[in-house]
Amino acid sequence: MSEEPQKTKSSARQRADLIKPFRCKNLIAVIEDPKDIVNIGTVIRNVNAMGVEKVYVVDPRNALSDDWEELREKRKLSKISVSSIKWTFVKRFDSTEDCFAHLEKNNFVSVVTSPHVKGKESAYLHEIDFTKHAKLAVWFGCEARGISSLAVERSKMCVSIPMFGMIESLNLGTSSGIVLYEVTKQRREYQSLYRKRGKGSKRETPLPTVIERGEDEA
Ligand SMILES: C[S@@+](CC[C@H](N)C(=O)[O-])C[C@H]1O[C@@H](n2cnc3c(N)ncnc32)[C@H](O)[C@@H]1O
Repeated sequence: MSEEPQKTKSSARQRADLIKPFRCKNLIAVIEDPKDIVNIGTVIRNVNAMGVEKVYVVDPRNALSDDWEELREKRKLSKISVSSIKWTFVKRFDSTEDCFAHLEKNNFVSVVTSPHVKGKESAYLHEIDFTKHAKLAVWFGCEARGISSLAVERSKMCVSIPMFGMIESLNLGTSSGIVLYEVTKQRREYQSLYRKRGKGSKRETPLPTVIERGEDEA
């Protein structure tokens, strides 16, 4: 049984209207060659919960369908993502190259994530300004190999979550939650202050950056 109660059509519509202004525009999470369906479902759930606009999946083994409707109906994915796949835009690509070609054509700047120092520039999560680029794609690597060298080469920088334990890395689903929390927090604050890019478009009154507690329970 699903872990969350199903929303009726009208309560789902109300919720969709309530969350709309909080969604981070032009922010995409990319998962590169994930092997485990549980991790894919967890990333989709995190993306939905944090208000990220889209998920791209680099899927060279063709584990997912190209068809959006079919993907949404995939029972295991729907269950793991607690149905958030129904409300989240997911697109698959055959290769890392294809995904970069699509992102670059649409003027997205990419950053990769890794527990290790990689590429031209590397920094800890809390040191980075994630509002610098109007269109941002955040890449997460595969469970065993991590992020590919092609993705590192084509990205602006590498982001790491500081770690203090004996293990080498965090799980893919967990790290996506931590990174996307910080990225969306910063970008929501920016959207709250500015109407569009450029400091000239400052709002007279900042928009709220969180949904008032209890507002969605009325
Ligand atoms: C299980 S880890 C991969 C471990 C792999 N041995 C490696 O060298 O990256 C799966 C993905 O989670 C993300 N990740 C895990 N730990 C992270 C950390 N401390 N900082 C940033 N990203 C991390 C990265 O995207 C990574 O590719």
